[in-house]
Amino acid sequence: MADTTNVLAPEHPILPVLAQRRSPRAYAAQPVPTEALHQIFAAAASAASCFGEQPWRYIVGSRASSAKAYDAILSSMGEFNQAWANQAPVLAVSIAKLNFSHDDNPNRHALHDVGQATATLAIQATELGLQIHQMAGFSVDKIRESFRLPAGYEPVAVFTLGYPGDPASLPDGLREKETAPRTRKPLAEFLFEGGWPGLEEERYDQAPV
Ligand SMILES: Cc1cc2nc3c(=O)[nH]c(=O)nc-3n(C[C@H](O)[C@H](O)[C@H](O)COP(=O)(O)O)c2cc1C
Repeated sequence: MADTTNVLAPEHPILPVLAQRRSPRAYAAQPVPTEALHQIFAAAASAASCFGEQPWRYIVGSRASSAKAYDAILSSMGEFNQAWANQAPVLAVSIAKLNFSHDDNPNRHALHDVGQATATLAIQATELGLQIHQMAGFSVDKIRESFRLPAGYEPVAVFTLGYPGDPASLPDGLREKETAPRTRKPLAEFLFEGGWPGLEEERYDQAPV
């Protein structure tokens, strides 16, 4: 069932699933079916990547079936994140392979491509009635140690995955945040047609003919 809580009201019409994607902190106890999990990570694999490297890796910890990994991901988080993320049935870490496989040179786009894959899986999750919530508030070193990551692999973000729950289940402060209107910068603040703002003479669409 589509998540209709706190749907974004964008400046221009966008795909409904994009407006419905959000980062909840309240989760239902309902586990994530294995098939849904596979669909979500198959969506990640559909993302574009530099040289087709697919530098993304994911470690998943499910409270029901891989509790040790779940606990390791949870305990890598800062206190604030642990307090709500422990409601989610699934936790995951995204990891970047930092060098290209074909020549071992540094892949400057590895983190970009991992982010792109995670953005794609977030949309697939929303389409399935699930949501993810990405976090930077975790210890990279703890993830490295817990999962004995080999050299050349960098933890990027951790995230929850689950069916959204009742915002009323959250403690004061987080409850209000869960339902506060989601806002975005207007296009005018980040979309620059023709050149960087202030460098009008360099606008390609105003070049003298
Ligand atoms: C890379 C990244 C790191 C984030 N880190 C945290 C975090 O540590 N804790 C948290 O509660 N939310 C975190 N967020 C969630 C953002 O605050 C959230 O995506 C943003 O406020 C927009 O809300 P929305 O995703 O519901 O549209 C993070 C999101 C991203 C993409």
